[in-house]
Amino acid sequence: MTSEPLQTDTRERDAIDALSDSTSEASLRRSVERSEQIWDDLAEHPDRYRMLTGDRPTGHLHLGHYFGSLRNRVALQDQGVDTWVLIADYQVITDRDTVDSIQERVFSLLTDYLAVGIDPARTTIFAHSQVPSLNQLVLPFLSLVTDSELRRNPTVKAEQEATGGRPMTGLMLTYPVHQAADILFCKANVVPVGKDQLPHLEQTRVVARRFDERYGRAGEGTTPVFPAPDALLSEVPNLLGTDGQKMSKSRGNVIELRMSADETARAIKKAVTDADRHITYDPTGRPEVSNLVLLASLTTGRDPEAIAEEIGDGGSGTLKRVVTEAVNEHLAPVRARRAELEADPAELRRVLAEGNAHANEVAEATLDEVREAMQMVYA
Ligand code: TRP
Repeated sequence: MTSEPLQTDTRERDAIDALSDSTSEASLRRSVERSEQIWDDLAEHPDRYRMLTGDRPTGHLHLGHYFGSLRNRVALQDQGVDTWVLIADYQVITDRDTVDSIQERVFSLLTDYLAVGIDPARTTIFAHSQVPSLNQLVLPFLSLVTDSELRRNPTVKAEQEATGGRPMTGLMLTYPVHQAADILFCKANVVPVGKDQLPHLEQTRVVARRFDERYGRAGEGTTPVFPAPDALLSEVPNLLGTDGQKMSKSRGNVIELRMSADETARAIKKAVTDADRHITYDPTGRPEVSNLVLLASLTTGRDPEAIAEEIGDGGSGTLKRVVTEAVNEHLAPVRARRAELEADPAELRRVLAEGNAHANEVAEATLDEVREAMQMVYA
């Protein structure tokens, strides 16, 4: 960024960075502990939890999403947790100028959700733009945060840097507050996140606490309007793209859920390997080969070492054949379901409309509580 107002005083900035590093260390530890407690309690009392998570509809979901989060959401839903999944369409325009193909992307995301087993009978699936009362919460919430707090948010900083120095939009700067509204409007108490998203959750907790301090319902012993949510962290396999680099659609190294078996075979055929014929599982020494072994392991549920040993001197040709079969077999039911859904756009629209209606009901009730707490009731 070119216009750093505090450029002269680097010592002060270093001090602030060091301070926030050590606080984030401590808060990371706290989040990890808390998350472990929740996992334990969740198994016994799933009914005590409302979980919210979401995605930006920017492209088609791939195996990274699948093993990184989708599978986990379905498991929580199946355990009996009240599950909410947000299609964050307003978040798409934090760093892009265009809403091209937004409809197609929203419905593709929805199709992926349903295909992997997110069940609209148990999970509320909805889109930002369809829930005005959720968005209205952003106004009072913005009064609870300062611009420097937002500028310091590590995720905002990282995302801003990733846009190659283009000017930051107001929506980008404030999206952690919007995200707080996403979580708080339905009073979700758990949010499955990666460690990189923890600052957002911390921002949400701050908003919830400050709302109560400033505008909270008067009187002793009242419950806060917004419960502070906790992060639900989980072990996520470190799955790389087919070139051994970080998985990303723009690198063309992903296997999308919607690809055909042939497209998958082609993508795996192109995968990078190394010159050693003997296949082993050694993620640090042989990241590309090991990533393929990991993919076979995730899709078959078998041990990666055992898979590598079985292939042994079969070389990368055998490895790729094994991986292709494993991935295609695992995804076959997902893809079959996906094809069925795609053939019935009216059903997709119905599912989303139903989720939106439920989200609106809950958002309106929460906004009423907010108006009440803020004494903005004039009827
Ligand atoms: N920021 C998330 C992403 O980029 C999407 C998201 C929007 C979200 N609102 C949320 C995630 C609320 C969890 C909770 O993937």
